[in-house]
Amino acid sequence: MTDRLPLQCDFSLHEHNTFGIRAKANAYIQVTSADILSEIRLDNSLSTLPRLVLGGGSNILLSGDFPGLVLHMCLKGIEIVGRDAQSTYVRAAAGESWHGLVCRTLELGLGGLENLSLIPGSVGAAPIQNIGAYGVELKDCFHALSAFDFDTGNIFTLNRDECDFGYRDSVFKHRLAGQAAILDVTFALPRQWQPNLNYAELEQELAVRGKPDPTARDISDAVVAIRTRKLPDPAVIGNAGSFFKNPVVPAAQRERLLAKHPKLVSYGQPDGSFKLAAGWLIDQCGWKGRRVGNAGVYEKQALVLVNHGGASGRELQDLAKAIQADVLARFGVELEPEPVIV
Ligand code: EPU
Repeated sequence: MTDRLPLQCDFSLHEHNTFGIRAKANAYIQVTSADILSEIRLDNSLSTLPRLVLGGGSNILLSGDFPGLVLHMCLKGIEIVGRDAQSTYVRAAAGESWHGLVCRTLELGLGGLENLSLIPGSVGAAPIQNIGAYGVELKDCFHALSAFDFDTGNIFTLNRDECDFGYRDSVFKHRLAGQAAILDVTFALPRQWQPNLNYAELEQELAVRGKPDPTARDISDAVVAIRTRKLPDPAVIGNAGSFFKNPVVPAAQRERLLAKHPKLVSYGQPDGSFKLAAGWLIDQCGWKGRRVGNAGVYEKQALVLVNHGGASGRELQDLAKAIQADVLARFGVELEPEPVIV
C-alpha cells in the first residue's frame, strides 16, 4: 500500500513553517485528496506513527525534528456552491492560501472576508484557531466545514455551533484535537454587505486614504497596508504572527491593574470581562526589539517573536518563557502561546 502513497522520508520542514526553523520530519506526504488519508489510515506502518496535520505552517513552533508523519494538506479548489436571500456560499479546499481566498472572493464581488486580508496560512487551518483581525473573526462568515476522522475513516461535517468557536479557539483544539483533518470550509458571505469598521486603527487608515464610505476592496487594501507596516513578512524574517493570545481577565483584576498602570490597554468583552493587549504588557517589560541569540521580539510589535536566522525552536521557546515570567512577575497575568508547539 505504502508504495502507492507519495511518501518522502527524512523531509526538511524548513520551507513549511513560517518561523523558518530547520527541522525534519521522519515521513511526509502531500495530501491532495481525502482518499490519500483513507489509504494512510489503512496502512499499518503509517497509521501508528505520531501524526502532524500541516497547513501553511504559519501557526506552529517546531521545537525539534518531528518523529512521525507530516500530512501536508494540499487540496485545492474554490467555488460558489449556492445562494439564498441572505448569503452567497463559497467553498474552499483546505490547501488554498487564506489570502488567496480573500482575493478571489473580492474578485467575485463578494465582501465579508476583507478585514481578514493578508493573514498567512491556509484555509484548512483557519477554523482551528478561528483567525481574527481588525474587528472580524472567521466565525462571522463561517457556514460549515468537512473533515476526515482518523478514528473512524469517515468524513463528517460541522456547522458553526458545532465548531464551538471562541477567541483563537475551536473544537479542534479540544474534543477533536489530533483526531481530524479539515478538508474544506464553506463561507456564507452576506448579499447585503456592510463594512465592519469597529477597529479604530482601520477607520483611521481609511480616513487617511480618503475613503469614508469604503468598498470591501478599499478595506482589504487598508488592512494590507496596516499589516505590512506593523507585522513582519515571514518571507523576510521568520515569525508566526502574534506569539501570545491577548489574556482575558475579570473586571476586578483589570481595575486593580489600571490603578497601578493607568495606561493599560484593554477592551471590554460582551460577558463583562476584559481582554488586555499582551503587546502592551510585553512592551512595558522592555522586551520590544530585544534579541537573545538568534531569537528576538519584533521591533514594531512586541507580541511577535522572530527568528533572526538560524534560531532553533528551543531558543524561541526559551525566549517565550522569559517573557511569560516577566509579565507574570510585573502584572500577575499569565500569557498563553497562540501557535501550536510541536
Ligand atoms: N501595543 C503596544 N506595544 C506593542 C504592541 C501593541 O503598546 O508592541 C498596544 C498598542 O497600544 C495597541 C494595542 O497594544 O493599541 C493592540 O495592538 P494591535 O492593534 O497591534 O493588536 P494586538 O492586540 O497586538 C491583535 C491580534 C492580531 C491582529 C490585531 C488586529 C491577537 C493575539 N492578535 O493583535 O492577530 O492582527 O489584533 O486585529 O489577538 C495573530 O493572531 O497572529 C495576529 C497578528
